[in-house]
Amino acid sequence: MGKIRILGDQIANKIAAGEVVERPASVVKELLENSMDAGSMSIRIDVEAGGRRLMRILDDGCGMLRDDALLAFERHATSKLSDARDLLSIATLGFRGEALPSIASVSRLALETRADGDSIGTRVEISGGRLIRCDDVPAPRGTSVEVADLFFNVPARKKFLRSEQTELAHIASLVTHYALARPEKAFVLNHGGSPLLDLTPVATLRERVYQVFGNRMLEDLIELEPAGRELDPASGEENPLAFRLRGFVSAPSVQKLNRNSIYLFVNGRLIRDRLLLHALSAAYYNLMPPACFPVALLFVDCDFEEVDVNVHPAKTEVRFRHSSFVHDFVRDTVRDALIAAKPAAAMPLPPRPPQPGEGLPYSEFSQRLETDGFVASVAAPESGSSAPGPGFNLRPQQAPPPRLDLERPAPRFDFDPAPVVRRAPDSHGFLPDGLYAAEASLASLADLRPLGQLHDSFIVAAGRDGLWIIDQHVAHERILFEQVLRQQSEGRSGSQRLLVPLVVRLSPSQQIEFARIAAEMERAGFECEPFGNRTLAIKAAPAGISPADAESLVFEILEVAEQELRQASSDDLRRSMAASIACRAAIKINTRLEPTKMDWLLHELAATSCPMSCPHGRPIALRYTMREILRSFHRI
Ligand SMILES: Nc1ncnc2c1ncn2[C@@H]1O[C@H](COP(=O)(O)OP(=O)(O)O)[C@@H](O)[C@H]1O
Ligand SMILES: [Mg+2]
Repeated sequence: MGKIRILGDQIANKIAAGEVVERPASVVKELLENSMDAGSMSIRIDVEAGGRRLMRILDDGCGMLRDDALLAFERHATSKLSDARDLLSIATLGFRGEALPSIASVSRLALETRADGDSIGTRVEISGGRLIRCDDVPAPRGTSVEVADLFFNVPARKKFLRSEQTELAHIASLVTHYALARPEKAFVLNHGGSPLLDLTPVATLRERVYQVFGNRMLEDLIELEPAGRELDPASGEENPLAFRLRGFVSAPSVQKLNRNSIYLFVNGRLIRDRLLLHALSAAYYNLMPPACFPVALLFVDCDFEEVDVNVHPAKTEVRFRHSSFVHDFVRDTVRDALIAAKPAAAMPLPPRPPQPGEGLPYSEFSQRLETDGFVASVAAPESGSSAPGPGFNLRPQQAPPPRLDLERPAPRFDFDPAPVVRRAPDSHGFLPDGLYAAEASLASLADLRPLGQLHDSFIVAAGRDGLWIIDQHVAHERILFEQVLRQQSEGRSGSQRLLVPLVVRLSPSQQIEFARIAAEMERAGFECEPFGNRTLAIKAAPAGISPADAESLVFEILEVAEQELRQASSDDLRRSMAASIACRAAIKINTRLEPTKMDWLLHELAATSCPMSCPHGRPIALRYTMREILRSFHRI
């Protein structure tokens, strides 16, 4: 008995309509999803000429019977839905029943398949949507789909394809993403016969991240403790539904200039989603400058009814039923993980060329191309390069930029033809040294011994785990910021009277802004009184602010409120005000500190919840680990 049915019009019309085959990577995406839906444990993808000449996906999934193998090429033919209600809780990656017919209509396609328990397999050949032949053939269990000459009959579409390297980069990105989502499956990606990715099954996401990106990447990532949250039973839901979040996020010191290193998955499906992106940014609020982004691999899992995936033809967008609940859950979980880990920023180290088989170095990982909001992880050569072709195992010709500048001008690459990412636990079952290295945490700040100051601006301190440099201004800024916020929430802001009230003149728009935020300013420790038309008398300022600074602080607060915070919540306003106050009141650079003051500063910093960044997102402390010191002296 076949499994595939043609959907009735009523349900077919409910499916998000639109073309799915835009480029080779969209073909790979659909075929890869089919292989995963078929329960495959091992998937091999062969690509030639960036997918323009050929893409072949071979799986060991459930396969198809002869009738199904033919039916699969009809529009709206699927084994994954039967009635419209199924659309409300989709458990498979596919459901539209349109991928195979769409792909077959714009290529020369050959499918070979054998279902479990069937003695003979089937081969179907279709060219430009026309059935050429359907034969019985011997075939291993599973399915292989070969797509050649994409868009051979649609020259207008073919013209829009980009270079071989670019199309390959999109494909590699896609396979990489899905490989991260399914560590238990084996993935192989070959281009022109040489492997780009060869991933054996592993037990954990951590090991898969290591296989794909290598240790350098893992060192900068914080693993989220798998967290769950239930919808409030008082919300009227009969059964409170649980949302779960797991994955990795980067330390705030890793600052990307775009969102390309953020990978989002909902129930194992690769998606892009504004809501989750916003939740992630909110988690890094006051830990990272506003225009910067972290690296993140987030997996949200929930009941299938909680998320509508029938939004976009390529199935890359979703809609959550309880969106604000999901937003807050993700924001809080990521934030809590950052606060718990207190990751220390490493001192920039001299770059070291990657060793063979080491995987994608960080600089190359960050050199990515944007596609459909997703990103490619393969570096393409600059034009004019004599490189034979792209690959994952690239060697920078010149030093890659220092860590925090990773997105700056791309380094030139020459290509190493050696086969690439192949990592598995070694014969003892452990991954190589470093994977289990202790996390670099700022929790050890309290044990530091200050040695002195550099340029009267940076505290140099010795700790058990290495040498530290602390920026005295931003360290104090963080301490004061958290103190001001605490006092604000307890309604007891420190305020000090000015001997002589300061009289300041406001522009009309500043006057309007002042009226809007006057109550918040008072909570922060200001006492201001209107004094005639567009004039303000400042009688008291937050503690620690010198009279000379009070006036410019008022103007700064008004300006920020006007520029950035019109739309923002009162909570954001409060934080921004606290950041301005902390910045003015903090110890400046070029200030000599007594040893006791340095001690005090380090202790206070250790007691803050986020000692890693100042409220504007700059790093506070750099650590040169004992291991790096020993390595630099060739002692290990
Ligand atoms: N690799 C595969 N292994 C087993 N069955 C497959 C495979 N690819 C496609 N099929 C079958 O063909 C049907 C149609 O595939 P497709 O056009 O991608 O639609 P959808 O995935 O939305 O159902 C699927 O529902 C599935 O039953
Ligand atoms: Mg499909």
